[in-house]
Amino acid sequence: MRTPVVAGNWKMNPPTAAEAVELARAVAASAPAGDQVTTVVCPPTVWLSAVREALGADGVAVGAQTMHFEEKGAFTGETSPLMLAGLASFVIIGHSERRQYDGETDERVGRKVASAVAHRLRPIAAVGERAEERAAGATASVIDRQVRAALANLDGLGGTGLVIAYEPVWAIGTGDAATAADAQEVCGQIRAILRELDPEAADEVPIQYGGSVTAENAAELFAQPDIDGALVGGASLKPEQFETILRAAAGA
Ligand code: 13P
Repeated sequence: MRTPVVAGNWKMNPPTAAEAVELARAVAASAPAGDQVTTVVCPPTVWLSAVREALGADGVAVGAQTMHFEEKGAFTGETSPLMLAGLASFVIIGHSERRQYDGETDERVGRKVASAVAHRLRPIAAVGERAEERAAGATASVIDRQVRAALANLDGLGGTGLVIAYEPVWAIGTGDAATAADAQEVCGQIRAILRELDPEAADEVPIQYGGSVTAENAAELFAQPDIDGALVGGASLKPEQFETILRAAAGA
């Protein structure tokens, strides 16, 4: 019904083009053959071109970590969707680190998701509650607000290529992943919102879990009915760990 998507978010790593190419080649060499899982690597913008070239035409897809919603203009330091054409087929939108450090708002996430779809890039729209929101019992309301804002400018979900990543902020880079049951509860909530917005296409949308995904916990997460892959940070920089995560998704 939907193919799981496992994406490695390399964040601000590695420091050189040569290392980025080496990492991309290691992922390509170990990624499962066939179409049971969509494998994506998301290098820093400055390495997109070298990684795209190293990977060749098929197998592993390339994603950007962010983009601007405008096609061109006076936006110093930004990357436009037109510039990503031919380099990336996915783009992460609204990662919590960009929400926290770069002023990414719900409203801008909504504009970026629509811009990505309009430019035939598959958006990976990232949502997730912070530790204090969780402690206050606000997880469901934060997720509801973020998901609806991310999709606010889409006419429907069918054919958009949309992916949603549920990444609880407290689980990112902490080694404290959500339990499979807790992650499923939120991913199930996200599925319900998608069904309300577009009953026909809701089941097409892969929903990833992200936050301290490892070779050890991936299979249990992927066994949940509404978890269709992962957005992986630290473990995506270690090819043997990333391979285990990919194989768990392919077998789920
Ligand atoms: P970690 O897998 O390092 O926790 O990072 C998750 C993440 O932020 C992926 O986007």
